[in-house]
Amino acid sequence: MTDPSMPTSQEIDGGDGHTAGCDVRVEPHSGSREELRPLFELAEDSPAQLDSYLASGRVLVALLGTEVIGHLQLVETDRPGEVEIKNVAVREDHQGRGVGGRLVRAATELVTAESGSALLVATAAADIDNLRFYQRHGFRMRAIERDAFTPASGYPPGIRINGIGLRDRVWLDHQLSDRPEPADGPRRPGRPSST
Ligand SMILES: CC(C)(COP(=O)(O)OP(=O)(O)OC[C@H]1O[C@@H](n2cnc3c(N)ncnc32)[C@H](O)[C@@H]1OP(=O)(O)O)[C@@H](O)C(=O)NCCC(=O)NCCS
Repeated sequence: MTDPSMPTSQEIDGGDGHTAGCDVRVEPHSGSREELRPLFELAEDSPAQLDSYLASGRVLVALLGTEVIGHLQLVETDRPGEVEIKNVAVREDHQGRGVGGRLVRAATELVTAESGSALLVATAAADIDNLRFYQRHGFRMRAIERDAFTPASGYPPGIRINGIGLRDRVWLDHQLSDRPEPADGPRRPGRPSST
């Protein structure tokens, strides 16, 4: 059964044709969420937190043939127009080949087409790889939530990422109306125009 609020796979592109992920299709997921749990778990260390949001929002999946190799979950926030990437992951044997980038671009195109104003995402301050990944895809730092990952919120103690204790959460956003900087770099105010 197709979700009528989601575009078809033909309407979602997100591909640049230059990555090894170009055989991958991105589509709305209309099947069971439970079957995606192992993928969600790659991005969520708290089983309690995952239970609280697994069924929420909408999910895009990256398919290689009929196999789901990645997913991205979008949920509404309390701010109109702002949509959060709540969970995203690519199967470990397919990471680093552009599939995650395809999913993020497809989500950006979807929310832009719906006249959304911003995409938000939260990740661990310790997760340098994720911070690089999101910033490469147009996200900028928005806020830091200290001590967000605690046993009280379901995160087991002692988790370290890149040798850094899992502790603080970073919020990033991608303002969808932001214009890219000019290719020759930002212009400095007050500089005379070249003659
Ligand atoms: C983060 C993630 C979705 C990126 O998907 P991907 O398909 O590996 O990403 P792409 O191939 O499009 O881009 C690769 C870039 O992603 C970043 N990255 C983050 N985690 C990575 C990982 N485990 N392996 C490879 N790249 C990773 C790097 O910046 C990398 O750039 P690099 O090649 O210069 O190192 C994926 O690595 C993943 O599922 N990680 C585990 C779950 C997770 O942490 N999700 C995000 C929670 S906020």
